[in-house]
Order: sequence, then C-alpha cells, then structure tokens
Amino acid sequence: MKIIGTGSALPKEIVTNDMLAGFLDTSDAWITTRTGIRTRHLQSHETLRDLALSAAQAALVSSGVQAEDIDYLICSNVANSYVSPSLGSILLGPLGCCCPTFDLNGACAGLVYSLDIADSFLKTGKARKILIVAAEEPSRFCNWHERETSVLFGDGASALVVTEGESFVDFRLTGDTHTDILYYKRSMEATPYDRVEEKTTPLVMNGREVFRLAVNSCIEDIDTLLERNGKTPDDIELFLVHQANLRIIDCIREHLEQPKEKFPTNLQNYGNTSSASIGILIDEMSRAGELKDGATLVLSAFGGGFVTGAALLKWSQINY
Ligand code: UT7
Repeated sequence: MKIIGTGSALPKEIVTNDMLAGFLDTSDAWITTRTGIRTRHLQSHETLRDLALSAAQAALVSSGVQAEDIDYLICSNVANSYVSPSLGSILLGPLGCCCPTFDLNGACAGLVYSLDIADSFLKTGKARKILIVAAEEPSRFCNWHERETSVLFGDGASALVVTEGESFVDFRLTGDTHTDILYYKRSMEATPYDRVEEKTTPLVMNGREVFRLAVNSCIEDIDTLLERNGKTPDDIELFLVHQANLRIIDCIREHLEQPKEKFPTNLQNYGNTSSASIGILIDEMSRAGELKDGATLVLSAFGGGFVTGAALLKWSQINY
C-alpha cells in the first residue's frame, strides 16, 4: 500500500488559551506548560460533514483519482451528530463516490486502524483505490464548564487516498479494556422493558492514567515495530505521533533517544484533533515538501479503549 493523495480541513474559528481563560478557571501558562497547546480550531459555523468533505476532496484532487474510481470509503470517526447513518454514508453522495463505506471507531488511533484495514483490502484485491477520511469534533463531547478536558481538544479532518504499492512495511495494533479512564456516553431511550433513560455524559477522562498508558504503549509499539523489522530508532527519519500532548511526545522521544526535529508537531496550533491529527500532520508536511521521497517514517497513535496503532513505512513523494 502507498499513500497517493492527502487532504485536511480545519474550522475557521481559532481559539487561544487566553480566550478559554476568559470563561474557565485556567491560564495560558498552565495549558502551554502542561500540554504545549497554544490555540485550537473549533467548529462554529461549519459542520463535521463540511470539514470531512473538504479534506476528502483535497485528497482526491492531489491523488488524481476520480471519486467514481474509489472502491471503498473508510471513515474514522469517534462520534458525530448522527449515530446512524455513518459519516461515510453521509459523505458518499456529495463526494460522488458510489462504493461501500463504513465508519470505524478506533478512537484517536482510528487513522492507523483504517490504514491497517485498507492495507488488507488492497492485499486481498478487495479494492484498488481507497479513500480514508478521519474527521472528529471532540469539542462537542467536552463539558465546557470544566477545564480538565475542554482545553485539550480541537476539531478537524484529514483524508488519505491509498492504493497498491510497497510503501507500508508493517503495522502493530493493540487493544485492551480500560473503559473507566476515557469515555463519552450517549443518551439512551427508555423502553417498555428497561425504563431507565440514560442521559449523555460529556467526555470523562483520567488524564494522568491516559498519559501513563499513552507513553508506555507507544514506546512498546514503536520498539516492537522497529525490532521485528531489524531497525533502530536512528534508521527512522521522522516519528509522526498522535498530537495529544507535547509532554507525551517528549517522553516517547527521550526513551528513543532521538532529537526533537524527528518528532514534528502541530498540536501547538490545533490541540488534540483525535484520529484526524496524524493525517493533518502528514498533509501539511507533505504539501510543504517536508516528507522526503524514500524517507522511513513511523506513525504511532493511542486512544480511548485503550487502543494503540503504529505503522512503519517508506514515504513516496506526492506532487501537488
Ligand atoms: O487522545 C487522548 C486524549 N487524552 C490525552 O491525551 C490526555 C493525556 N493526559 C494529559 O495530557 C495530562 O494528564 C493533562 C494535560 C490532562 C493534565 O496534566 P497533568 O500534569 O497530568 O495534571 P493533573 O491532572 O495531575 O492536574 C494537576 C493540577 C490539578 O490541580 P491540583 O489537584 O494539583 O490542585 C488540576 O485540577 O492541574 C489542575 N488542572 C488545571 N489547571 C488549570 C487540570 N486542568 C487544568 C486546566 N487549567 N485546564
């Protein structure tokens, strides 16, 4: 499998830490030192559908693939305003794709999960060209009266077009049950048989525990991936890690004894955009010519569940 097109889209509204400190008991100093985040883009007039659509269209244009030639649309999304239909179904018509689609909830690791599935579809000949869209609106899960989670997230979408090729070398995905440390519950209707109506719960997070699991599991994924492919951290040009917290990325980087330049970040500008984050980074860096042809990259992500996903690949340059 190789990536032949990339796209991303962010809401127009840019919200600074100082703006949040205007209505939450927080400060620019706290957010910056604990997370590295300075601003985030939050949906105001746009919908998630708009962002997903524009990221997908940009990816299609850069790939040179026509929408009708896409064989599968895989949509990575934790939740949007519809439980059903899927975000993938919502996008098919406006995109002009007529292919099977499904949504995948791999939390913040959803893009790596989607790439792993796409790789299998391509290897078995089930599809030849796949559009992956990772679109997330975590700002709509948070309790905006509480400072613990709302300052961390941003909304956004990214998209990749993938096809047959030799770029991706290996994946490592893991999963474990830790429901209590990071969850978002939807409301449930009462029925004649179960009269308990459940109200939606804004995102609940045990930040310290997520931090600990994130660092340990990303290190384990990367170490395993490198070892079983006969590589050392020095053989990797860039590590593109889920953009959740600069301190998480630094802990992983310090374990691997690598310089800061090998761990590019954009969370300073966008916050944690969940499964969209690595795709936004790839799109921005690829368009800026910062992903060199033949460069060996590692992608590594973690998310609620607890799930993780990492991939090893050689980048093939895209001409925009
Ligand atoms: O995609 C996965 C999503 N989640 C994550 O990636 C989160 C991973 N975890 C983290 O990034 C960090 O744990 C946080 C940034 C969430 C928190 O940083 P921390 O260094 O673990 O801080 P803490 O939770 O230990 O809290 C330290 C203090 C507490 O006050 P006390 O008890 O020491 O008085 C918090 O109440 O900071 C307080 N605090 C805040 N203060 C100002 C928590 N949130 C805020 C805030 N502004 N926004």
